[in-house]
Amino acid sequence: MTDWTVRFIDYPQQYQKLRNEILEIVDTLLSRGDVMLRQQLHDFEAHFAEFVGTEYAIGVSNCTDALYLVLKAAGVGENDEVITVSHTFVATLAAIHRVGATPVLIDIGDDHLIDVELIEAAITPRTKVIMPVQLNGRVCDMERLLGIAEKYQLQVIEDAAQALGGKYKGTKAGAFGLAGCFSFYPAKLLGTYGDAGAITTNSPELTEKIKLLRNHGRLPDGDLAGWSFNHRMDNLHAAWLDLKLNYVPSWIERRREIASIYHQYLGDISEVVLPPAPMEEDAHFDVFQNYEMEAENRDGLRSYLTECGIETLLPWGGKAVHQFPLLNLSDIQLPRTEAILAKALMLPLHCELSDAQVRYVADCVRGFYARNSRF
Ligand SMILES: Cc1ncc(COP(=O)(O)O)c(C=O)c1O
Repeated sequence: MTDWTVRFIDYPQQYQKLRNEILEIVDTLLSRGDVMLRQQLHDFEAHFAEFVGTEYAIGVSNCTDALYLVLKAAGVGENDEVITVSHTFVATLAAIHRVGATPVLIDIGDDHLIDVELIEAAITPRTKVIMPVQLNGRVCDMERLLGIAEKYQLQVIEDAAQALGGKYKGTKAGAFGLAGCFSFYPAKLLGTYGDAGAITTNSPELTEKIKLLRNHGRLPDGDLAGWSFNHRMDNLHAAWLDLKLNYVPSWIERRREIASIYHQYLGDISEVVLPPAPMEEDAHFDVFQNYEMEAENRDGLRSYLTECGIETLLPWGGKAVHQFPLLNLSDIQLPRTEAILAKALMLPLHCELSDAQVRYVADCVRGFYARNSRF
């Protein structure tokens, strides 16, 4: 086993910082028996909606379920098409598949997000939804995307699993279309100690429907509104998330600082293409859920960084969703997505990193290319 000098993510360190508050929550909730659908969930939902800038938020079991529930509640099903991307976690497409709809995959742009210029050409009479994936903490050009959606009367559902706090022209991810779907998987910017997710929306009707759908269709009088399933968020997760939400603004600031250090130390290396630097005046306010760069001789660099004790990741293990043969999507060709995935490498970026560790990672990347330079 590698003795890591820089971990990709450091759960124990983050826990140590919040240990007393986390344990106090466990003690309070369990002493009271507040375990399911209690006040802590309602409080978190209110605070989360306020943070994102929507009227409502609904806590659910995870983001995969959130995407499924929104599609289901929006009446998307068989014979419908959903336009999205292949450079995403399989969850995005799994939710579309689960409601019986067809994912229509389009290529990505230089910033690794949906290329909005390709959307119109992918629209057919069966298209119902555009589902942008706000990847790596960046929000795509939502102005253009919403304009297209309005022109063709399509719903917009954001996969905002990776973009909590990310903004486009001042509006936060999850606040643009019919709904936004968030993940609180432990590795996420706002992560819990297990699985959880949320849906944000301004629609009271959608909120009502999803609150029923997440809990077997159970009505307050005990009757059932119809068939559904269990997609509830546990109360403990809600209370921990409510606590951690207070730290999110400072965590975002730190993530942007780290991205700036990477930019400063790696910006002049011709063998790498970095994500856009965090700039206040930009239309995009990125939160750097991941630091995903493109690298020449990516696999060589990754091995070298492992030797240096630096843990890195390949997005989705190195393949876009359509490149997994058993999903039956392999007749699709997305040249830009495939080219980017062949070079994409994620460097460690989390709030427990010191500046010295970030510079060490950057020095090692520099060292690799200096050693392997042909000149
Ligand atoms: C882009 C994207 N969509 C959806 C999901 C699914 O989230 P969850 O694990 O909470 O179901 C993830 C989680 O990694 C993700 O990164």
